[in-house]
Amino acid sequence: MTADAPGPAVEGRPPNPFLQVTLDELRRRTSTKWRTYPPDVLPLWVAEMDVLLAPAVREALHRAVETGDTGYPAGQEYPEAVAAFAADRWGWTGVDPARTALVPDVMTGIVEVLRLLTGPGDVVVVTPPVYAPFYAFLEHADRAVAEAPLDASGRLDLQALEAAFAGARARCAHPAFLLCNPHNPTGAVHTRAELEAVAALARRHGVRVVSDEIHAPLVLPGVRFVPYLSVADDGFALVSASKAWNLAGLKAAVVVAGPEAAGDLARLPEEVGHGPSHLGVLAHTAAFRDGGGWLDALLAALDENRRLLQQLVAEHLPTAALRAPEGTYLGWLDCRPLGLPPEAPSSGLAVVSDLDGPARFFLDHARVALSSGHVFGTGGAGHVRINLATSPAVLTEALTRMGRAATARTG
Ligand SMILES: Cc1ncc(COP(=O)(O)O)c(C=O)c1O
Repeated sequence: MTADAPGPAVEGRPPNPFLQVTLDELRRRTSTKWRTYPPDVLPLWVAEMDVLLAPAVREALHRAVETGDTGYPAGQEYPEAVAAFAADRWGWTGVDPARTALVPDVMTGIVEVLRLLTGPGDVVVVTPPVYAPFYAFLEHADRAVAEAPLDASGRLDLQALEAAFAGARARCAHPAFLLCNPHNPTGAVHTRAELEAVAALARRHGVRVVSDEIHAPLVLPGVRFVPYLSVADDGFALVSASKAWNLAGLKAAVVVAGPEAAGDLARLPEEVGHGPSHLGVLAHTAAFRDGGGWLDALLAALDENRRLLQQLVAEHLPTAALRAPEGTYLGWLDCRPLGLPPEAPSSGLAVVSDLDGPARFFLDHARVALSSGHVFGTGGAGHVRINLATSPAVLTEALTRMGRAATARTG
């Protein structure tokens, strides 16, 4: 396919972030999205976006590099920027920087918080299909995983959660629930009513809740993000600019403790705070503090891509069922009606880059790399996750190729 031309800026509106970088330029990137597959493959798998940095982030990094400001991080600017963003965007004033801690990234933060709340062998409930590394990190941290699968519409199933909480409490003294809010991969943005019900169940069964809110700034028009800590005082949340401003390579995240969890946070070992990098902290702070205009342009472009993806699936894969996201930049596609080869029965832990079933088919026959549904746990098999944080041209080409390959197979 031809490379996209960088898009013009429409006067008065920040340019569409997906039209600022060409496919040829993207292919010169060295990150995992661009280095895992050969150049004829369109990579729509791992959660990296095809964007340049927000100007505020670029300027903060340039300033640090030009002045040699590359020492250790200091101060509270990052949690303060998160607090201001939360008040402005979500109407929530509950982030008190005194009840926060810096951690290198969200997954490390989750593990460290779970170490405060649970012991080795204790049960952590997850709601599959869910972000695949939850399984590997929990196993690595010597915690047992219990599944409370989402319902058929890709949302939290309160009955399944209640059963999982009761089962977890019967098995151990200190169970926890790792909530994904918004939910990766179905893109569900949990409602206040859903979260209040979760909080009530958790209290009833003595389950502590850790809420992964890495996708929180990525809530698309039509719904509102509800921070878990706005409904429960004893929880923890993990926040980061990593997904919304594409900063995964600049490690820094924030743990936020609810008022009743302050005592737990006080037990966080001092050395955990040595992990985040100063450049990461500067970049994430600039994103939350000064990157709102760029984020708005991104959300508008994602909303358009979401509509485009719906049209493309209807046109090229009409029998497949797409769950278009309310939040995140991930589409969740049920490919079972396409009659593609299924995943092989597997034993052991799937890792995020495993490809099987429909994702393997689309890589081999359409040269499109997607995330394989089976790695997301129960309910994931037969699905693929599509990263739609790319240009409309790449999205169109990818779905056209997928449709052609599926049609060629069925004849
Ligand atoms: C739900 C969720 N949590 C955590 C992460 C990883 O975050 P980090 O790189 O900060 O550990 C991702 C990355 O895509 C994610 O989707």
